[in-house]
Amino acid sequence: MNSKMDEKIKGVMPTYGRQPVCFVKGKGMWLIDDLGDCYMDMVSGVAVNALGHCSEVMINALQEQAKELIHVSNLYWNKPQVELADKLLSLSGGDFKDVFFCNSGTEALEGAIKLCKKFGNQKNKSKLLFMSNSFHGRSTGALAITGQPKYQLPFGALLQGCISVPLNDGDELKKALDEHGDEIASVFIEPIQGEGGVIQVEDSFLKEIEAFCKEKEAILVFDEVQCGAGRLGTYYAYQSFSVKPDVVCMAKGLGGGVPIGAIIANQKASVFEKSDHGSTFGGNPLMCAVSLAVTDKIAESAFLEQVKETSKYIVEQLGLMKAEALIKDYRGKGLLLGIVVDSPNQFVQKAHDNKLLLVAAGSDAVRILPPLNTTLEDAKQFMELLRVVAHSFVLE
Ligand SMILES: Cc1ncc(COP(=O)(O)O)c(C=O)c1O
Repeated sequence: MNSKMDEKIKGVMPTYGRQPVCFVKGKGMWLIDDLGDCYMDMVSGVAVNALGHCSEVMINALQEQAKELIHVSNLYWNKPQVELADKLLSLSGGDFKDVFFCNSGTEALEGAIKLCKKFGNQKNKSKLLFMSNSFHGRSTGALAITGQPKYQLPFGALLQGCISVPLNDGDELKKALDEHGDEIASVFIEPIQGEGGVIQVEDSFLKEIEAFCKEKEAILVFDEVQCGAGRLGTYYAYQSFSVKPDVVCMAKGLGGGVPIGAIIANQKASVFEKSDHGSTFGGNPLMCAVSLAVTDKIAESAFLEQVKETSKYIVEQLGLMKAEALIKDYRGKGLLLGIVVDSPNQFVQKAHDNKLLLVAAGSDAVRILPPLNTTLEDAKQFMELLRVVAHSFVLE
């Protein structure tokens, strides 16, 4: 590996396909490795670093809260947790009733599965519907509703009663709902599949699911772990669609770089009672204070407007690249964008060789996940570098 860490990496389990680089410092959209090389980061910790690396907003919140209180268990109340819940509920404009805090996207999904199981248990419904090609996390529960055999198969039997339909296939959806409708407790969906290849769910498909959940009293869960927290230009991803879910799962950009997740439920879905769920670290004052500062910033209307403007510019530029046959296609919304290329992994490698960080998604796409505070100037710099990479990729 190209790093001073060479000798020590054997001590970490080999679960990730990592690039041979070790980063030691970051600012905004830039990262520096331990050999002093500088990279433009369009991965943002996979949609986590909403304000870029080491933003003043986060540093200040971390420092201020660390001086007051870092951790106190959920045997007691702490102010940042209560204030963050209040903020998240007010950003929904009254769509939701309450929040459970955890530490990651997987935990948010795992908790939402439990919530739906309890809801279903009360109504004699035991099935969970999910989409093929989805990604909801790596615990055994979240894996059971992750529609990608490559992640599920090594682990044998998972949670029972999980059934999938192909995303955006109205006929298959209807078939599944006709066959299992009365037994379905909940439907899990990413409004835009991120890891699966930046694939957007169609409005008509979402509407069918929403209508079913209303009619049959099932819970509609939006997994906004990757596409939420401002990434689509609205605070919640569902606010960019014409459908209201009963539960939203959040993480990643919710903390901007500190580990936090949340399950946010409306009146109908809020079935957790005392002792039903818990987490030692979830809602910890340090994480919540930082998340509150990040959320306050993202939710400013000028900030969300900038996300849309930057997105518009990048999308226009990708359109030009497509017209010039530098990429095959592009898709996505806001600052969750993907380009379609032959051999995404090789494209990511080519970008890496040019000191540009990108991440592959699905079978045919490369994700572009800039920090949400990327300015037009930053975006221009990015597009110049992306063009260099694409030119050398198509010439090879
Ligand atoms: C849509 C979605 N859900 C859940 C997860 C799991 O989140 P985490 O890695 O924080 O556990 C991810 C992670 O990429 C995700 O993209």
